[in-house]
Parts: sequence; structure tokens; C-alpha cells
Amino acid sequence: MRKKIVAGNWKMNNDLGQTEALLSKLLKKMPETETEVMVAPAFTNLRMAFDTLIQSPVEVIAQNMHFAENGAYTGEISADMLKSVGIQTVILGHSERRAYFNETDETLAKKVDTALEHDMTVMFCFGEELEDRKGDNHFKVVESQLEKALFHLKAAAWKNIILAYEPVWAIGTGETATPEQAQEMHKFIRKTVAEKYSDKVADGVSILYGGSVKPQNAKEIFSQPDVDGGLIGGASLKAKDFVAIVEAI
Ligand code: 13P
Repeated sequence: MRKKIVAGNWKMNNDLGQTEALLSKLLKKMPETETEVMVAPAFTNLRMAFDTLIQSPVEVIAQNMHFAENGAYTGEISADMLKSVGIQTVILGHSERRAYFNETDETLAKKVDTALEHDMTVMFCFGEELEDRKGDNHFKVVESQLEKALFHLKAAAWKNIILAYEPVWAIGTGETATPEQAQEMHKFIRKTVAEKYSDKVADGVSILYGGSVKPQNAKEIFSQPDVDGGLIGGASLKAKDFVAIVEAI
């Protein structure tokens, strides 16, 4: 059975002290669960977060990394750097990285390769913009994002891939995809992976939904058969809300 996952993407929020405070609240409130729970603090707080959560089942993951091994890339962070502070999983392809930092499917394919070469797990984000959906191009856009960044991989590599479908129009806007819209797209994604690889690969990959997930709407979204959890932004910054979302699965 594929894994259920709830991950909190803390984005560029919380300094060291604020991160310590949030982690300590999470440690107190986190229920025992079969669900894999992950949090992605800012780079500067990864080491402390890893040390703080080392005895807990909550995994600390990174929000991004560079594809190069090392070198003259001012301001960037490598896979080895992440691994040296205990990080095993990295989010790649978030729509904010694509929109504000010019990340393309081609650079993302390189990042995915580097992460996998380092035995890391990739949480790969993708999703259409509002115009794509209005123009009825959302399936095409999503298929192309998957093809360009992931479909060069061998089937065996997919055990280290988590997919996170995040329609751009639903991120931070308060406008969530309806459970039906999420299910329709997740089913399409699974079918696309099955056609390229096999039913086995498609059935094994966890597909998370992200975009304005809140305690109030999480249960309905997570109850869809092809939705295997969520990638949570704003609501993951409040321990109470994040825990309620974990409990909704
Ligand atoms: P919100 O939950 O704030 O809409 O953000 C979703 C997201 O971008 C998670 O990566």
C-alpha cells in the first residue's frame, strides 16, 4: 500500500527562535499516526530542526537544492550539504521556485537526478496556473511537467519520488480545488504514470494535494481515493491547525 503523507512547507517564514517554538508545540501535540509527517523549515533552521526531531517520527525535509555537486553558485545549497545535516528528502519544483526564480522543467530534471544520485527522496511539485484551467489545458500542462522533469527516470527510481499536485490558483489564495477536482487530476496523474511505466509504479507513488488545505477542508480532500495526503503551506505554520490536518487523514 502506498504511503499517506502530510508535509508542512514553512516557506520563508520563522527565524531560529520561532522555528524552535513551533517545533516544540508540534512535539507536544503530534498524535501517534501511521501517516508520514514532514516539515520543511528554512535552510538556516534545518540542523536545529533535525536535532530537535531526531527522536520523533516527524521528518525534517528541505525546500530546495541546487543540481551541481559544489562550486561557484553563490547562495545555493547542495545535496551533500543537506545530507550532512541529516536531510533525506527535498521538495523540488514548487511553483514559487518556478515563478520567482525561473526554475524550468529542464533545470528541475537535473535537480531530480542529483537528488536521486544522492539517495534522497524527491517531493516533486507541479500544477497548472489559472489560465491553463480556464483554457481547459490543465491536463496537458500537468502531463508535460511530469514528462519533462520525471519521465526520463527508470521505473526503479520511482520508489524515491513523491508527487505533489499544487494548482497554482489554489496556493495561498484560500481557494481550494474541490475534492472532485483534486480526485479528477490525481486520477489522471496516476493514469499518466501507469501508461508511461506500469500499474505497479503508478499504484506505489503517493500523490499529495497542495493549495489552501485547512483543518476545515482536509478530511474531504483526503478522503478521495487517489489523494494520498497533502502539502500544506499557511496552515502548517500553526501547530494546532497542522496537527488537525494530520488527524484528518
Ligand atoms: P497554502 O497551503 O498556503 O495554500 O500553500 C500550499 C503550498 O504552496 C505548499 O507547498
